[in-house]
Amino acid sequence: MTVTFLSLCFVLLIVGLLLLIFCFYARYKLNYWNRRGVEQLPNADLVFGHVKDAMLFRTAPGWHMGVLHNSTINKDAPFVGFYVFHKPCLLLRDPKIIKNIMIRSFENFSDRHFGGSQQKDSMGMTNLFGLKNPAWKYLRSKLTPTLNGSRLKQMLPLLIQNAETMMKYLEEQSKNLNKHMMIDAQKLSYYYTTDATANVALGISMDSFNNPNEITEFGNVLFYGLKRKIAVLNLLYVPELLTFIGFCVLSSRSLIRKYLWNSIKNRAETSNKRGDFIDAVIDLKNGKQDPIYNMKGDNLVNLIGTFYAGFETGSNCVSFALMKLASHPEYQDKAREDIERAIKEHGLTYSGFNDMKYLDQCIYETIRIYPPVPTVDRRTKEDYKIPGTGVTIQKGTPIFVSLYGMHLDPRFFKQPEIYDPSRFAGGQTVSDAFLPFGLGPRMCPGVKLGMLYSKVILAMILREYIVTQNPGQKVVLDSRSTLTVAAGSITLQFKKIY
Ligand code: HEM
Repeated sequence: MTVTFLSLCFVLLIVGLLLLIFCFYARYKLNYWNRRGVEQLPNADLVFGHVKDAMLFRTAPGWHMGVLHNSTINKDAPFVGFYVFHKPCLLLRDPKIIKNIMIRSFENFSDRHFGGSQQKDSMGMTNLFGLKNPAWKYLRSKLTPTLNGSRLKQMLPLLIQNAETMMKYLEEQSKNLNKHMMIDAQKLSYYYTTDATANVALGISMDSFNNPNEITEFGNVLFYGLKRKIAVLNLLYVPELLTFIGFCVLSSRSLIRKYLWNSIKNRAETSNKRGDFIDAVIDLKNGKQDPIYNMKGDNLVNLIGTFYAGFETGSNCVSFALMKLASHPEYQDKAREDIERAIKEHGLTYSGFNDMKYLDQCIYETIRIYPPVPTVDRRTKEDYKIPGTGVTIQKGTPIFVSLYGMHLDPRFFKQPEIYDPSRFAGGQTVSDAFLPFGLGPRMCPGVKLGMLYSKVILAMILREYIVTQNPGQKVVLDSRSTLTVAAGSITLQFKKIY
């Protein structure tokens, strides 16, 4: 009895001692920025640092980074230190410093922290988004021309074809459901972008509205499964773990492989050009090769990841734009007039969509408030002294910029929570804090395609339907997505214009 009691006391003592050592160790680690004379966020959790709510899925990780942006004691702090578990990270809050890091000192910040230095998923990360230098630079130079204006001009008829399928679906729904119908804008734009991405990236026509297939399902699994959320959260915050656990970002490579090789084979047999990404893939495959990134075998399959990087962002941009226009009928009417004017002048052409300037303004204002990719990150290659400050960032430090933080910061946008497309009217100076597509050589290469996708679907819908709010709808951001997505749905009322 006495022996058991003594053993128990001994165990408790050891546990207590270990806890005490852990507390001292954690406090030391969580004081890194203070020791370097940099403001750090208060209230770090001894285990999670500052990312507890995101790691436990209590809040959307992108939104959480915005909360961190707003939690500084000095509201003008140009940067602030915080911790992912015990890892010191730096959150930038000043457009000038962001420019210095992302543009002027790009060579030192050319890699993302996202994805880490090694992990096992080739399709998810051996594409433009995840690659590190020197392979990234080579691939970027090869892929940028495949997304330029003349390529997009060729892709436009394919995008319109998919939009027509969507409009037929809406027409059917309006016959069945009468003039006032409730539509889930998130699902609608998700189906459209699934079909459009398959059309322009894989060279296949499909109709997710009436015949959803394994590609429709692929997108669902890609972005909405629990395993996926855990994987992406890991990629964002603790990519080092992936070396051991080997999650995939884009699973089901065999599915994409099957469709890609089918398309390449069919194209070779007919030698027809279709104006899609398959044409570009074939040119790259037949062109001069560099061992740094051989355009062969599964490396070609990995290229499709470039398009999947833009797949959900485009879709979310549209659903949030519809939601905002539904709650602001005056802007919706103005957008509709702009669309009709541009189509009257140019037809449904590339110049026509380019000329829808007010629609551009509505989209920019949407992605200011709801940035589809809410966080941009980089990794410090070598020690770096932040110009104009006495602070040196140590090699290996992850750098983050919260787009929610920057876009909703009253230092940069007056009454930032108010939706007002006139902020982007011609002649207005737009703050350098507006970064929906990132910045510098690593910024989004799909800006034009993302805007075109969005404009095609919005123009087609707004020409034929008045979209109004669903009074019962309350939109909450999905806590299990690293992108900006509504949890559940964005249900809106569509009323046909006769
Ligand atoms: C509204 C639509 C879109 C938004 C808001 C968006 C936003 C972004 C942002 C913020 C980044 C990170 C940039 C940085 O780190 O500085 C990015 C990267 C990227 N985006 Fe997009 N994107 C959109 C559409 C697209 C589309 C349609 C594509 C497909 C072609 C695409 C392909 C990529 C790729 C491949 C990268 C990685 C670039 C690199 O690391 O070199 N995006 N995007």
